[in-house]
Amino acid sequence: MKINNTSININNLNQTVTLYGWVNKIRNLGGLIFIDLRDRSGIIQLVVHPESDMYLKATSLRSEYVIKITGTVCKREKANPNLKTGEIEVEVNDLEILNKSAELPFDLNNTTALEDTRLKYRYLDLRREKLKNNLITRHKIVSSVRQYLNSKEFIEVETPILCKSTPEGARDYLVPSRVNKNNFYALPQSPQIYKQLLMASGIEKYYQIAKCFRDEDLRADRQPEFTQIDLEMSFTNEEEIMAMTEGLLQKVFKDVKNIDIKLPIERMTYNKAIDLYGSDKPDTRFEMLINDITEVFEKSDFEVFKNIISDGGVVNAIVVKNSSDKYSRKDIDKLTEFVKIYGAKMLSFLKYNEEFTGSIAKFVTPQIKEKLIENLKLENNDLVLVLADTKKIVKTALGALRIKIANDLNLIEKNKFNLLWVTDFPMFEYSEEENRYIACHHPFTQPKDINNLEDKENALSKAYDIVLNGYEAGGGSIRIHNPKDQEKVLEALGFTKESAQKQFGFLLEALTFGAPPCGGLALGLERLTMILCETDNIRDVIAFPKTTSASCLMTGAPGEVSDKQLEELHLKLN
Ligand code: AMO
Repeated sequence: MKINNTSININNLNQTVTLYGWVNKIRNLGGLIFIDLRDRSGIIQLVVHPESDMYLKATSLRSEYVIKITGTVCKREKANPNLKTGEIEVEVNDLEILNKSAELPFDLNNTTALEDTRLKYRYLDLRREKLKNNLITRHKIVSSVRQYLNSKEFIEVETPILCKSTPEGARDYLVPSRVNKNNFYALPQSPQIYKQLLMASGIEKYYQIAKCFRDEDLRADRQPEFTQIDLEMSFTNEEEIMAMTEGLLQKVFKDVKNIDIKLPIERMTYNKAIDLYGSDKPDTRFEMLINDITEVFEKSDFEVFKNIISDGGVVNAIVVKNSSDKYSRKDIDKLTEFVKIYGAKMLSFLKYNEEFTGSIAKFVTPQIKEKLIENLKLENNDLVLVLADTKKIVKTALGALRIKIANDLNLIEKNKFNLLWVTDFPMFEYSEEENRYIACHHPFTQPKDINNLEDKENALSKAYDIVLNGYEAGGGSIRIHNPKDQEKVLEALGFTKESAQKQFGFLLEALTFGAPPCGGLALGLERLTMILCETDNIRDVIAFPKTTSASCLMTGAPGEVSDKQLEELHLKLN
């Protein structure tokens, strides 16, 4: 069997070894040929002397040829401290070319190639150290998760990929059925309903490394096809699920990064997260909190703010510490363009240096000045960025702005991992797209108070998210197990009895046969891997990812199919 090339070291001096791998680099130095041989474990240096029988063959080698060599382990004249095998080299006695390689479309050792090119030749891109290491990290996470959950008596169960649509809030991927004319399967957006049914089956503790599919707008942290670490427990409560998740994350961080995370993980309510960070996934690695200064401007002479406030709007600010000299008028204009993406109309600013200057300085009376300095704890050279609008626009825009500024000014410490529970999520959220209230988590989430579903803006649920460095790394909830309660919630979401029966009658029926109370959570495996690999591109941690337009540049999926295939599926193209 092939050995790892980097398992060879100074203890193997004078031994004969057989090695396999790719020619990573080849150098001809005044007669001597040096070859960097690469395998999954890393690089080892080979040397071929001019007098060797293999010399001529060695001169024909090119990058990425696949070779087998037999040789003698020797001590290097000058060790290379950057290589694990840096103290030794292997003098080649026999060389076999197992396969040649055409010239690659990009240089693996120094790639500036566009991502599209790298995605087209993904199998080559994966030869690069960085991507290979990301796959290894992903593997370590999954194996650590399995070890932990197995040790806690969870059972790994696979659930179907061809299913009936589950309502997780995104669009389904549909698969036409050949046998059942005009009927479609949906690919699972998550195994949500199945895991609740497994609890009804008495499995008690389930987990799955589950493939999920969502046809939604893609972003840097979203793929149409992704993987969840999905778990569910019976006879449990929020505290137990959170503690189980914390133990799991503690083991993963230790196994994969050798980092000890402190438990218990901090908690913040959803409302506080929105108020202070403008987001339900606050990045707590830096401060720059959102301050409500509505009251300061309520009685001012500044008509614009006053009108917004009297229309029910708010005035909020963030303070960029010791930075007013870093921002020119032009820079502020750029920030204004940025907040417009989030629906804000303008961004006001104040620079503080004993006195205020800036776009709204003339409205700062001595009284307002005093209040601003006190409320915002201002010091000289602070920059104050102010938004006045509806609460939703102000929070969302300032939330995004604080992250942009933190990135622009490099305020985020590297190698910092901040975990946070966000709790007390709303039960409902208003969907502008659908013009109605939808479930904030999913329709099977237990409300805090089943008898108080009328007040849709304020009803809370037993749902929680785990946030890591400003990413939603996972989310879960306690489920409804009582069929009457489930009906009430579906009714509050606008389902008629008939439509609920049609879509999840099987679940409603299962609840009538002694379904236990249960709850669970799902972590996004790619999100977790991304953060542990310190990349902000989800494609970097997936072997064969899709582009932001949900296509695979390597295989050409999605692609056309033959007329015969369509006919068999009873489909006609428009
Ligand atoms: P939720 O929809 O919050 O919950 O998903 C759980 C986690 O999955 C990850 N995730 C994604 N990762 C990559 N690409 C995507 N398109 C994508 N969508 C979601 C996120 C998210 O936190 N059934 C519930 C879980 C439960 O209640 O137990 C669910 O799916 O990290």
